[in-house]
Amino acid sequence: MLIAQLSDMHVSKPGKRFGGRKDTREAFARALSRIGSLNPKPNLLLLSGDLAETGAAEEYDFIAEQLAHMSCPIAAIPGNHDVREEMLRKLPRYVIPQDGGHLSFVHDALPLRVIGIDTIIPGAVNGELCEHRLAWLEQTLEAGRSKPTLIAMHHPPVKTGFLAMDNYGIRRGREAFAAIIAKHATDIRAIVSGHVHRTILGNLAGVPVLIAPGSSLAFELDLGEQPSLNFVEEPPQFLVHTWNVESGLTSHAVFVETFGGPFPLS
Ligand SMILES: [Fe+2]
Repeated sequence: MLIAQLSDMHVSKPGKRFGGRKDTREAFARALSRIGSLNPKPNLLLLSGDLAETGAAEEYDFIAEQLAHMSCPIAAIPGNHDVREEMLRKLPRYVIPQDGGHLSFVHDALPLRVIGIDTIIPGAVNGELCEHRLAWLEQTLEAGRSKPTLIAMHHPPVKTGFLAMDNYGIRRGREAFAAIIAKHATDIRAIVSGHVHRTILGNLAGVPVLIAPGSSLAFELDLGEQPSLNFVEEPPQFLVHTWNVESGLTSHAVFVETFGGPFPLS
C-alpha cells in the first residue's frame, strides 16, 4: 500500500512566478507526472496544504485540471495560503466540510487509516487547533480505535529549531492536541505535515513527526537565532509512504526530477 504526499505546491496565477523566479504551475504538473509514473501506483494522493499561492479561483482551476488526470483517490487539507471556500468550490471531490467549517477528513478505504486535520486560521500564517477540530479528532480516533492510523496536517505540531518558521507555527491548541496524540499513540504510526518546505523528523508523545519537503520550492536552512526566510532552488521533492502489517510504515523522500541513471552496479 502506497500513499504519495505532495506538500506546499503554491500554484500561482497564470504568468506569475513565486518570488519572481519559480514557475510553480509547471512544478506542480511535473510533480504529478512523476507520481503518475510510480510503480506500484499510489493508493492515495495526499495534498498537505498550500496547494495555491494566493487562494484565487484561477489557481484552483489549474489545480483541478491537473488533478483530473490522476487515476488514484485524492484527499486534501488546506494550508495557510489556501482559501477554504475556493477549495470547496473548485476541488469538491478532494475536501470534506466538517461542522464548524474546517476541512478535515478521514480516508478509511485503506489498511492504514488516514486522518487529515485542517490547522488553518483564515487569513493568518500561523495555525491553530480549535475546540471543534480537537473534538472532531478525538471522536474520530475513538471511532477507529486499534486501527493503524496516519495523521496529516499542514502546520507541524512540533517546534523544529528553524525559528523563522517556528514563529509561524500553531499558536493555539498544541498542548491539547499533544494530549490526544499521547492517548492514542499506540494507534498513530506517524504524523506528517508540510509548511516548513524542508524534510524534518521530530517526535510528539512518542509518535514520529515527519515534515514534508516542498514539492515546488525549498526554504533555505537557517538554524541561527535571527534567521531570515529565503527560498532556494533545491530540487523539489515529495514523500512516498508505504505500509504493510509486517514492516509497518516507512516514508521515502523522492525527487521530482530524474538524474543520471539508472546504471547497473557492475
Ligand atoms: Fe508553504
